[in-house]
Amino acid sequence: MNKIRIAVLVSGGGTNLQALIDAQAKGSLQSGEIALVVSNKPGAYALERAKRAGIETLTLTRTDCGSQEGFETALMEALDSRKIGLIVLAGFMSILSASFTGHYENRMINIHPSLIPSFCGKGYYGLRVHEAALAYGVKVTGATVHYVNEVPDGGKILLQKAVSVEPGDTPETLQRRVMEQAEWRILPEAAEMVSAKLLNDKENWI
Ligand code: GRF
Repeated sequence: MNKIRIAVLVSGGGTNLQALIDAQAKGSLQSGEIALVVSNKPGAYALERAKRAGIETLTLTRTDCGSQEGFETALMEALDSRKIGLIVLAGFMSILSASFTGHYENRMINIHPSLIPSFCGKGYYGLRVHEAALAYGVKVTGATVHYVNEVPDGGKILLQKAVSVEPGDTPETLQRRVMEQAEWRILPEAAEMVSAKLLNDKENWI
C-alpha cells in the first residue's frame, strides 16, 4: 500500500512524536509513515526517540543557516528531496514564514495545547498556555490540531478535545493532563485523517 511520507518537526522532549511512533506501531497510523524527524534544537530528546524507532533524523538550526530565510530554504530542500507529503509540527518552536506555509498548504498540521481560539497565537507556547488558562480561571481547556497557515495557530481546525481543569492545578499538572487526555490522542488521529485524505487526493502529491 502507498503511504504518505511524514516529517515531524520538533524542538523538545518529543512526547507527541512518541505518540505518533506508537500509533504507527499499533497500526492506527497507517496511511502515512514517519520518514524523517527534524529538530531545530541540537540535542533535543525527540531525536533520541526517533533514532530508537529507526527514523532518519536531521538537525537544522537558524544559526547554522545564517538566517530564518536560509533555515527555511534548507528545510524545504530537505523535505522536498525526501518526497515528504505531510509535515507535522509537534512542539516545534519556530514561527514559519508565509512563503514556507504557503508551499505546504493543507499538508502541514500543528498541535496546540488549548482550545483555539483561546490562549493561542504569538507568545502562547509551552507552559505559558496553561499559565494563561489558570490565570483566566477557565474550567475546561484542551488541545487543538489545525492546519498551519501564515497566522500563528490560525489555520483551519481539524480536531479538538476538551480537558477539565481541576482544583489545585498548577501549569505543570494541567499541561500533563492536556497531553495525556488530548494531545497524544488527537495528534495521531489527525495525522491519519490528513494522510488518508492526501492519499485519496493525488494531485496534492509532490
Ligand atoms: C506540547 O504541549 C505541544 O502541544 C506544544 O509543545 C509541546 C511539545 O511537547 N506545541 P513534546 O515535545 O511533544 O513533548
